[in-house]
Amino acid sequence: MKITRQSIQNRIIHWGVALSVGGLVVSGMFQLPLAKRYNIDKLLEWSGEYFVGLSVHYIFAFLLVFFAFFHLAYHILRGEFDIFPKKGDIKNSYLVIKAMITGSKEPPSGKYLPEQRLAYLAIGLTLLLLIVTGLVKTYKNLLGFDIPNGLYFWAAQLHNLGTILIIVLVILHLLAFIPKANRKLLPAMFGGKVEAEYALERHCLWEECVKEARKGDFGGNLAESNKADSVESVLDSRQDLADSSKQDSVDSVREFRRDSSDSKK
Ligand code: HEM
Ligand code: HEM
Repeated sequence: MKITRQSIQNRIIHWGVALSVGGLVVSGMFQLPLAKRYNIDKLLEWSGEYFVGLSVHYIFAFLLVFFAFFHLAYHILRGEFDIFPKKGDIKNSYLVIKAMITGSKEPPSGKYLPEQRLAYLAIGLTLLLLIVTGLVKTYKNLLGFDIPNGLYFWAAQLHNLGTILIIVLVILHLLAFIPKANRKLLPAMFGGKVEAEYALERHCLWEECVKEARKGDFGGNLAESNKADSVESVLDSRQDLADSSKQDSVDSVREFRRDSSDSKK
C-alpha cells in the first residue's frame, strides 16, 4: 500500500521552483557573455543576445518570486512547519547519515529527515539572498532609478555568490538520492505517494502518515503477510517514542515495550 506524502500543490511548487532556478542559472550565465565565448549561440541563437537573456531572466525571476512567496505565505498561515529546522537537527543528521553508512539504528523522524530540514533551510536562504539581491539589481535597471555604487557592487557580488551556492546545493540535493534508503522518497515528488511500510518505519513520528495507515487496509494486507505485528508496534511505539526522549529508535521502543510487558507477567 502507498501513502500520500506530497500534495499536488507541493509538487507544483517544487517543480516550479526547480524549473525557475534552472532557467535563472542558464539565463544568468548567458548574461556573462558565456554563450558567445563557448559558441552556444550557434546552437541557441538568442543565448548570445544580452537583452533576450535578460528578459528570460526576468520571466523566471517572476516565477521564482511567485512560487517562493506563495509557498511561505500558505504554510505559515496554515501553521504547517514540518520542514522548518528544529533543535537537534545537526546532531540527528549526523546520526541518520552514520546509520546509512554503518547500518546502525537511525533516530526516528517526522515527515522529514533532519538533513532534509537543513537542506530546505540552506536552499531557502540562498534563494532569498538571490531574490533580494536580484530585486536590488532590477531596481537599478529601471529607467530613471539609480542606487549608490557600493550597494550595487555588493548586490552583484552576493548575487554571484548565491548563484554558485545554489548550483552546489542542487548538486548535493541530487546526490542525496543515491543512497538506497533515500531513493524511496523519489516517487513522492513525482506521483505524490511513498510505500506505507517505508514511511512507517522511517518517518514514524509523522502524524498524517500514521493516520492514513490506520484508515487504509494496510493493517489487513500486512496481517496476511505476517507483518501486522511490526506495523502495530510501530504505530503503538510512536506514542512512547514521542513521550520518551530516552528512546532513540523504533526498534529500541519495540524492545522496551516487549521487556516491560514480560516483566509485568
Ligand atoms: C533546482 C532544482 C531543485 C531545487 C531547488 C529543489 C529543492 C528541494 C527542496 C528545498 C526540498 C526539501 C528539502 C529536501 O528534501 O531536501 C526538496 C525535496 C525533494 N526534491 Fe527537490 N529540488 C530540485 C530538484 C529536484 C530534482 C531534479 C529531483 C528529482 C530527481 C528532486 C527530488 C526531490 C525529492 C524526491 C524530494 C523529497 C520529497 C519528500 O521528502 O517527500 N528535486 N527539493
Ligand atoms: C536562482 C536564482 C538566480 C540565479 C542563479 C541568478 C543568476 C544570475 C547571474 C549569473 C547573473 C549575471 C551576473 C551579473 O550580471 O551580475 C544575474 C544577473 C541578474 N539577475 Fe539574477 N539570478 C537569480 C535570480 C534573480 C532574481 C530572483 C532576480 C530579480 C528579482 C534577478 C535579477 C537579476 C538582474 C537584474 C541581473 C543583472 C542584469 C544586468 O543588469 O546585467 N536574478 N543573475
